[in-house]
Amino acid sequence: MKAWKEYQEQHKDRFLNELLDLLRIPSVSAKSEHKKDMQACAEAVKTKLEEAGADKVIIYPTAGHPVVYGEKISNPDWPTVLVYGHYDVQPAEPLELWKSSPFEPDIRDGKIFARGACDDKGQFYMHIKALEIMSKTNSLSTNLKFIIEGEEEVGSPNLAEFVKTNQELLKADVVLISDSSMISLDTPSIDVGVRGISYIEVEVTGPNRDLHSGVYGGAVANPITMLAKMIASVHDENNHITIPGFYDDVLSATEEERKLMAQAPFDEEEYKKDLGVNALWGEKGYTTNERTGIRPTLELHGIWGGYMGEGAKTVLPSKAYAKISARLVPNQQSDKITALLLKHFEKIAPEGVTVKATEHHGGEAYLTPIDSKAYQAAAKAIEATFNKAPIPVRGGGSIPICALFEKELGIKIVFMGFGLDSDNLHSPNEKFDVANFYKGIETIPYFHKFFAEQN
Ligand code: BES
Ligand code: MN
Ligand code: MN
Repeated sequence: MKAWKEYQEQHKDRFLNELLDLLRIPSVSAKSEHKKDMQACAEAVKTKLEEAGADKVIIYPTAGHPVVYGEKISNPDWPTVLVYGHYDVQPAEPLELWKSSPFEPDIRDGKIFARGACDDKGQFYMHIKALEIMSKTNSLSTNLKFIIEGEEEVGSPNLAEFVKTNQELLKADVVLISDSSMISLDTPSIDVGVRGISYIEVEVTGPNRDLHSGVYGGAVANPITMLAKMIASVHDENNHITIPGFYDDVLSATEEERKLMAQAPFDEEEYKKDLGVNALWGEKGYTTNERTGIRPTLELHGIWGGYMGEGAKTVLPSKAYAKISARLVPNQQSDKITALLLKHFEKIAPEGVTVKATEHHGGEAYLTPIDSKAYQAAAKAIEATFNKAPIPVRGGGSIPICALFEKELGIKIVFMGFGLDSDNLHSPNEKFDVANFYKGIETIPYFHKFFAEQN
């Protein structure tokens, strides 16, 4: 559609500058010191939605950070697309590893560097600009609803309640989410799934106080050593997870799907080089894409205890801690796996220490059927602007609310991610290519057009 492209071309600098404004707000959901920034960011999103043509925009307070809801309802006979995104971001630390300040976006080499550039401000903002384009060129063919939340990065603890109590408000025919990646602009792909997650924390306690490691060392179990042993024991020599029952409910991908996945281009040398590792690691019997897509995993996120300050201190600490999560695949249930993890870590506590394991957050996996109307519309939209059909792939990350949308609203979710796996999500120097931002804005109106034509 020429009018869309023309409009985008005329306004592209402003589109980009508006995104940069949004990126300047440090909306870190995990830290209470940013509570005001969260509110400010919600208000900025509200204003942007209104300016883009939404006719009703409401900020709903929750027990945590607010949810921004917006809609553009043009015709009751048209299908309705519910766009989901999140305006919260992960903490920016470690700050010293950023080449430019995380909340002062910097464009270098055609890439926007800032926390949230790709995850997810840069991506949900494409939808707000697509609304503006369709609105201003009188080419809407669907009703649009937006739900942009502020707690995705902390496990969406209050969104489930919001969805349950606002089913009528959120009623739609499909959920559209840009919060994932594609292989590249040359090889477009669509994530057909996200993994679930079970996140726990383990506290290991040894002696009732910190001890002199010379006076007592050798006679008392060191909680850090015991924790290290426990952690080492949860993978076997094939990097298979040893926790009894962990794989019980795993729905294996079919051979057909594995064959399809194997067609996605993957350059192992390039992958290793990009990450600066000399070898890859993972579960025996599976390819790298399978390990990050169709298989459950267990990862450590933080491990600490004892003296972590400058210089050396000879202490035998009283306590050691670890943050641990499992990524889950279809049919595994987050609650069940969380209970399994808690029980397992308490059970394998070596003699001489006690273990207390507690739950953080969880969420279920989600799979989009590729024969769904929504997937077909997304695939056609990408083909229209990339001149190539997208490859279906499984995303490794988690978006906890997806399974709930399907359960409560009875509709499918389709992911149209325009980021790259190498965009440094959750890491220093997060980025989003300006070209991907524009390509996303160009593609989204086609989704609405094709989805409307099918309905
Ligand atoms: N956008 C990501 C999830 C994602 C990334 C999906 C790449 C597919 C491909 C999301 O913001 C995220 O980081 N989610 C968390 C969820 C957690 C905090 C409950 C995650 O995956 O760690
Ligand atoms: Mn995200
Ligand atoms: Mn994220």
